[in-house]
Amino acid sequence: MFKELYDKHLCPHIINFFMDDKIIKKQREKVVPKAYGRVLEIGIGSGHNLDFYDYSKVEEIYALEPHPKLIEMSQKKASQLDINLKILDSSAEENPLENESFDSVVCTYTLCTIPDPDKALLEIKRVLKNGGAFIFSEHGLAPEASVQKWQNRLNPLQNAIGGGCNLNRNIPLIIEKSGLKTKELDQGHIPGLTLISYNYWGLSLKE
Ligand SMILES: C[S@@+](CC[C@H](N)C(=O)[O-])C[C@H]1O[C@@H](n2cnc3c(N)ncnc32)[C@H](O)[C@@H]1O
Repeated sequence: MFKELYDKHLCPHIINFFMDDKIIKKQREKVVPKAYGRVLEIGIGSGHNLDFYDYSKVEEIYALEPHPKLIEMSQKKASQLDINLKILDSSAEENPLENESFDSVVCTYTLCTIPDPDKALLEIKRVLKNGGAFIFSEHGLAPEASVQKWQNRLNPLQNAIGGGCNLNRNIPLIIEKSGLKTKELDQGHIPGLTLISYNYWGLSLKE
C-alpha cells in the first residue's frame, strides 16, 4: 500500500529532481544532440532531454512513458518549449509502433529501470530503420569487483526506493545481445555516488 502510493505520487517528483542534476546534464549534452529525423525517446520521464535536442535536424519526437504523472510532466515541459511531443502510454517492451519507422531512438537513464531490458532492446531494434541510431547514456555495472559487490548487495534496496532502478546492469552487453552494433562507446565514473556513477554512453546502429 505504502509502496503503491510512493511509486504513484512521490517517485515522479524524486525522479524529476535527481534527473535535473548538472552532471547528468553534461551527459545529456554529449548524446542527445546526435538524434536526427524521426526520433523516439524511451522512458522520457519528466522531459529533461527536450532541452538538448538539435531541433534543426529533428523532424518529430515520439516518446514512450508508462507513468501517468511523468507523462503529464513531460507534456507540460514540451508545451513550455513549444514542441509537438507525441507521448504513448506504452512500455518499451511492448508498444504499437510500426516496424522500421524511426531514424533515432534515444534512451537516457532508463535501461536501469525497464523490467525486461533485453525485450526492450529487441523492440528498439524493430522500430529503427536500417542504418538508424540507438543513442544512449546509462549508469550500470562498474568494472571494479569491490564496487560490483556493493552494487549487487544494495540492488534490492535501490530497486524498492528508486522506482525499479537497478544498479548492476551490464549496458553494453544488453545492447550487443540485441544485434545492434555499437559504433561509439565511452565509459567511466562520472562525479557522484560510486554505486551509480559508472556511466556508459554512445551510439549503436541497426545494420
Ligand atoms: C530514471 S527515469 C529517467 C527518465 C528520463 N529518461 C531522463 O533521462 O530524465 C526512468 C524512466 O523509465 C521509465 N520506465 C520504467 N519502466 C519503463 C518501461 N517498461 N518502458 C519505458 N519506460 C519505462 C520510468 O517511468 C522513468 O520515466
